[in-house]
Amino acid sequence: MAQPSSDVTTRPIGVFDSGIGGLTVARAVNRVLPHERLIYFGDTAHLPYGDKSTAAIQAYSVKICDLLLKQQCKVILIACNSASAAAYELVREYVGSKARVLNVIDPIVAHVGQQYVGRTVGLIGTKQTVNSNVYRKKIDDLDAGVQLRSLATPLLVPMIEEGFFENNISENIIQAYLTNPELADIDALVLGCTHYPLIKEQIGAFYHGRTEVLDASDVVAAHVQRYLTENNLAAQPGSTPPAHHFYVSDFTRSFEESTRIFFGQEVHLEHYPLWE
Ligand code: DGL
Repeated sequence: MAQPSSDVTTRPIGVFDSGIGGLTVARAVNRVLPHERLIYFGDTAHLPYGDKSTAAIQAYSVKICDLLLKQQCKVILIACNSASAAAYELVREYVGSKARVLNVIDPIVAHVGQQYVGRTVGLIGTKQTVNSNVYRKKIDDLDAGVQLRSLATPLLVPMIEEGFFENNISENIIQAYLTNPELADIDALVLGCTHYPLIKEQIGAFYHGRTEVLDASDVVAAHVQRYLTENNLAAQPGSTPPAHHFYVSDFTRSFEESTRIFFGQEVHLEHYPLWE
């Protein structure tokens, strides 16, 4: 385990998700913050989180934070909408002053509040994310007159994980969801799940450019960048690129192979069981 560093800026950013979907967020963070060292944890032993109870997701999230705190992370980014919805408040309390905790929901909610005042915005995500109503509560709290229409789209995660995108099967599933009356006449659609950036193009094609498709990963990465600068936490450029670490709670070769589609390059996954 890493030794405590007196210079907080040299400490890594911890990123976690139910599996490897959160690598879309890690990739976006790495793109805008190439000097930051990332410690990624994918809870592949417990995925999907999208249909787990709130209590179960909270218990897993706390365990993951123990590992990320041992690794001296200065910031913990919950790169999973389901865990951000179910466990953000609890994790923040649990972590206390040991690290800053960020989630993937607040940055996109702020963006919607700024860009879509008085308009109608759609949201798709897992059952946990949509049924928690967290997006609705946070958007209502902004008092910006944004109407939110949300739809749980549980088939999309297994579809993407099985590599079914950019073909006619995924096109049919996407069409079946997006033609749901709940999502009629929206000005923008929030992709409320870290897997969905991989089908952003297909979703965009469905709308023929008439509805903006909001990929939270870029908005979240920009938020992390701003947050580090404002809080004097940003790493200084080093002479060698930072060595990231990627842990998973259950390992299969196919998880490792899939990292290429989520992170843009295949990465080596280290097995770290959460419960021994
Ligand atoms: N990555 C999760 C999210 O953003 C979806 C996958 C899951 O259900 O575990 O909600």
